[in-house]
Amino acid sequence: MSTYHRMLRVLIAQMILLLASRIVSVQIGSIQGVSFFSSTGITVPTNDSCAECICTMMLSDDIIGLSCSQNQTCLFVYNYSLPYNLTVDPNSSFYFRSLPPEQYYTTFETTTNIGTTTEKQLTAQAVWSATGDTVAGSSAAGLAGNISLTGPGPIAFDIDNNLYVNDYGKHRVIIYPSNGSMPRVIAGTGTAGSKMNQLNSPNGIDIDTTGALYIADQNNHRIQRWLPGATNGTTVAGTTGTSGSTLDLLNKPQSISIDSSTWNMYIYDGQNYRVLKWQLGASQGIMVAGNGSTGTSLSNIAYAYDAKFNSNGNIYVPDYNNGRVVKWTPPSTYGVLVAGQVSSSGSTSNRLKQPTQIILNSAGDIYICDYGNHRIQRWINGASNGSTVVGNGTAGSNSNQLHSPYGIAFDRFNNLYVADSGNNRILRFNLTNS
Ligand SMILES: *[C@@H]1O[C@H](CO)[C@@H](O)[C@H](O)[C@H]1NC(C)=O
Ligand SMILES: *[C@@H]1O[C@H](CO)[C@@H](O)[C@H](O)[C@H]1NC(C)=O
Ligand SMILES: *[C@@H]1O[C@H](CO)[C@@H](O)[C@H](O)[C@H]1NC(C)=O
Ligand SMILES: *[C@@H]1O[C@H](CO)[C@@H](O)[C@H](O)[C@H]1NC(C)=O
Ligand SMILES: *[C@@H]1O[C@H](CO)[C@@H](O)[C@H](O)[C@H]1NC(C)=O
Ligand SMILES: *[C@@H]1O[C@H](CO)[C@@H](O)[C@H](O)[C@H]1NC(C)=O
Ligand SMILES: *[C@@H]1O[C@H](CO)[C@@H](O)[C@H](O)[C@H]1NC(C)=O
Ligand SMILES: *[C@@H]1O[C@H](CO)[C@@H](O)[C@H](O)[C@H]1NC(C)=O
Ligand SMILES: *[C@@H]1O[C@H](CO)[C@@H](O)[C@H](O)[C@H]1NC(C)=O
Ligand SMILES: *[C@@H]1O[C@H](CO)[C@@H](O)[C@H](O)[C@H]1NC(C)=O
Ligand SMILES: *[C@@H]1O[C@H](CO)[C@@H](O)[C@H](O)[C@H]1NC(C)=O
Ligand SMILES: *[C@@H]1O[C@H](CO)[C@@H](O)[C@H](O)[C@H]1NC(C)=O
Repeated sequence: MSTYHRMLRVLIAQMILLLASRIVSVQIGSIQGVSFFSSTGITVPTNDSCAECICTMMLSDDIIGLSCSQNQTCLFVYNYSLPYNLTVDPNSSFYFRSLPPEQYYTTFETTTNIGTTTEKQLTAQAVWSATGDTVAGSSAAGLAGNISLTGPGPIAFDIDNNLYVNDYGKHRVIIYPSNGSMPRVIAGTGTAGSKMNQLNSPNGIDIDTTGALYIADQNNHRIQRWLPGATNGTTVAGTTGTSGSTLDLLNKPQSISIDSSTWNMYIYDGQNYRVLKWQLGASQGIMVAGNGSTGTSLSNIAYAYDAKFNSNGNIYVPDYNNGRVVKWTPPSTYGVLVAGQVSSSGSTSNRLKQPTQIILNSAGDIYICDYGNHRIQRWINGASNGSTVVGNGTAGSNSNQLHSPYGIAFDRFNNLYVADSGNNRILRFNLTNS
């Protein structure tokens, strides 16, 4: 490694607002001339004195950071008993990541504005190409995403712009790396099961800012967390194989959204017709939406496959069975209709039919995967009608059509990705006007 660098220089800490919607990441320094970190090595070889070292920016002696050793050598300190370290980009900039449940980088003085939400920065005028490109699920040779998919469900991007696809029918999650590496299965074995390396009809997925993947493992009645590189998950909510309606149990959880600024998980708890807010590490959740029974009133969630939060603490629930999206402001016992009709599904522009996944933008506009209408709708905040942004409303397999779209996600550049479940493909619709 000694041939790789000669100099270590600290750059002024600066906030980097990654275009990835959900994330504010922080660049706190840069090591120049270091092109390689050994996965086991912790020394940043340098002959610089500690005066130039990054020690002033050190986060914590025993967690992660750069530290002066007694002989005035700069050391990169990494505690291997903790699951996360850092990301180094091709230019050797490095990013410290928060380590759940604590947020170590909030101790660093210029990084107090860390926060993440599920909101996108998207204008009401954004337009996407009418035709999509198949980026995953095709067996076309040469296509990076050539793993075949079986009824792809929810999809999501992490802060590094890697795409995650729930390959529902195979009880597994696949990652499509943004760096062009081949996709690979990162969770599940392909066979339904309840072991720690398995999933059983997993539904919602989300990734926190450290790269940990959370999965609503529906038929195991649990939320699993898979650390990067892990071959097994760990249970962070619910109990494997035990369903129930007390606040410490889940019954067919369908979605999980993690807030990386608070480590609250928001879980749509299927047969309990409720959304639970569950602090990472807690033994039970708190009910923040739904009243525990199905129904058509605005105090009920008849059934849902998603629940998203925004930075104001509101929970948005696409109610699949009622064909609507309802906003909940805890601790209210009823929600407010924000898209569709109270209980009247349909295909006119003021209606929805079986909405599955949603995405919020910071203006309160909602992008809705309108599964039963084979289209993606946008409801501007406060509007009484939606408009179609993708899909032409007729189920089909042409590049301008969708068939039972289940999942939606925006990449870092706000291109719209759709898990077109009936066609077993993932489509990308380019943003053409922002
Ligand atoms: C560091 O300095 C020592 C002594 O001057 C020298 O022998 C060594 O090669 C230098 N190492 C690097 C990596 O530059
Ligand atoms: C820690 O970082 C190194 C280098 O970036 C990487 O190879 C290793 O896999 C990381 N470890 C974990 C647990 O993420
Ligand atoms: C590493 O972190 C763990 C968990 O915080 C802590 O118990 C342990 O003492 C640390 N190890 C070192 C060498 O600092
Ligand atoms: C400096 O200290 C580090 C860690 O204590 C050690 O690994 C390294 O060999 C030392 N270097 C020299 C030149 O003594
Ligand atoms: C790396 O640096 C080059 C030259 O400054 C720049 O053009 C490029 O965008 C940088 N790449 C990343 C990933 O930051
Ligand atoms: C998938 O892509 C890889 C790499 O391009 C290729 O080796 C493999 O044959 C492809 N598989 C199929 C089924 O097309
Ligand atoms: C590409 O990204 C994936 C996912 O983060 C990572 O596992 C892989 O090592 C990366 N490949 C290269 C060549 O950097
Ligand atoms: C992962 O889970 C499998 C199945 O339960 C088990 O056999 C294996 O020991 C686990 N591996 C680790 C590293 O915990
Ligand atoms: C939930 O709402 C329904 C009406 O839709 C009502 O019948 C039921 O009693 C409510 N349950 C609770 C626990 O408030
Ligand atoms: C909203 O949809 C209804 C039902 O299709 C229609 O009658 C009405 O004209 C629409 N309003 C607007 C503003 O588009
Ligand atoms: C949707 O597109 C398909 C194929 O291009 C076409 O056959 C169909 O008529 C279109 N449907 C509508 C409602 O425009
Ligand atoms: C979308 O953008 C990609 C990358 O720029 C391009 O290769 C592709 O042709 C575009 N697709 C459409 C339908 O415009």
